[in-house]
Amino acid sequence: MNREILFPTPVYFKTVKDPKKLNKTLFPLIKAWSKKNKGVIKTNAGGGWHSPTDMNFKKEYKPLTDELFVMQEEIYKDYGMGPKAALGNMWANINNPGAYNKQHMHPNSQWSGVYYVKVPKNSGSLFVEDPRPGPGIIMPRRLEGLPRALWHIVVYPPIEGQIIMFPAWLSHGVEINKSKEKGEKGWRVSISFNFIQVNKEGRVG
Ligand SMILES: [Fe+2]
Repeated sequence: MNREILFPTPVYFKTVKDPKKLNKTLFPLIKAWSKKNKGVIKTNAGGGWHSPTDMNFKKEYKPLTDELFVMQEEIYKDYGMGPKAALGNMWANINNPGAYNKQHMHPNSQWSGVYYVKVPKNSGSLFVEDPRPGPGIIMPRRLEGLPRALWHIVVYPPIEGQIIMFPAWLSHGVEINKSKEKGEKGWRVSISFNFIQVNKEGRVG
């Protein structure tokens, strides 16, 4: 028999060119920001710090946003999109032990994602859930060893220097940080962002 897969849910991931160098710059910047700004409450729970969402306008983060644009352009080619991507917003997250991010989606965006600056052991994975309503209702008993594409929830353990991007409509969350490390050694630090689509002149619509 034949089979085709319809309505796929792509999850893209890649590691930046020089993660150690980039994270050495990013960590102190984010730490200093968190000391002088009390942050905002969004999906962060359990005491995690969520920065304001204007991080994409701060020039000191350009080395990261450059990497994000390269990957987003690759995704545009792979997914058949054009002409142009723009960063809608971007923010930093510090999840101290006990912190997590509630399950959510990113409205009014095209592609969402995360970059990992610092991830202690057992500091919580990203999880994504099957976005189709049908399989959430009809869940047949299945055999062991199914391929990941047939799972209901897929977990991505964080890797320092890795960027993950997925459609903004894909429901996801971050598990609780269970690191045993003390102080900032136990911090799980990441940067989240939303890409929107703009026309050739850089305008929405
Ligand atoms: Fe998110």
